[in-house]
Amino acid sequence: MTNCQSQLKVLIRRDEIKKAVARLAREINRDYQGKRPLLVGVLKGSFVFMADLVRQLDLPLELDFVKLSSYGSAQESSGQVKVVQELETPIEGRDVLVIEDIVDTGLTTSFLLDYLRQKKPASLKLCALTDKSSRRKVAVAIDYLGFTVPNKFIVGYGIDYDEKFRNLPDIYAIED
Ligand code: IMP
Ligand code: MG
Repeated sequence: MTNCQSQLKVLIRRDEIKKAVARLAREINRDYQGKRPLLVGVLKGSFVFMADLVRQLDLPLELDFVKLSSYGSAQESSGQVKVVQELETPIEGRDVLVIEDIVDTGLTTSFLLDYLRQKKPASLKLCALTDKSSRRKVAVAIDYLGFTVPNKFIVGYGIDYDEKFRNLPDIYAIED
């Protein structure tokens, strides 16, 4: 832990995260006026972001979660995605807003969006805290974006490396 932490460099400070979350909340509040959106958090990485975001949303929203697994190494998603924890809420006719931690290659998110679209929501949008756009393999439209990040492995603010560092309040890059 100590060794590993010495290789962590702050990439996005908590005050910058706070400002971005406030901006995203303003955009979402504006766009979903008069609606009753269902926010779908992608476990586990989005849990801190989602907790901060929903407390700034002044909408009669509901929450649900999905958990996905992607076969591959810890740092690289293979694109072979599986739903390991299903939604509890029927989403047909609902305004669904997916909350993601990172869009990296885009494989996981595009799989999830296709999967949700088959369930015929009234609308389907994506809110992502971070976008590693230089790594994209499949196009993903991000409707609400916090930060574009460089091609580095990041941790903190809910995001892990091997289940560690989710509790850090800032976002760090692992330097090698
Ligand atoms: P994608 O399928 O390549 O877009 O990967 C998406 C998922 O991989 C994210 O939701 C994260 O869970 C994980 N991931 C990608 N890059 C990072 C990173 O830098 N740190 C931690 N997890 C990451
Ligand atoms: Mg992950």
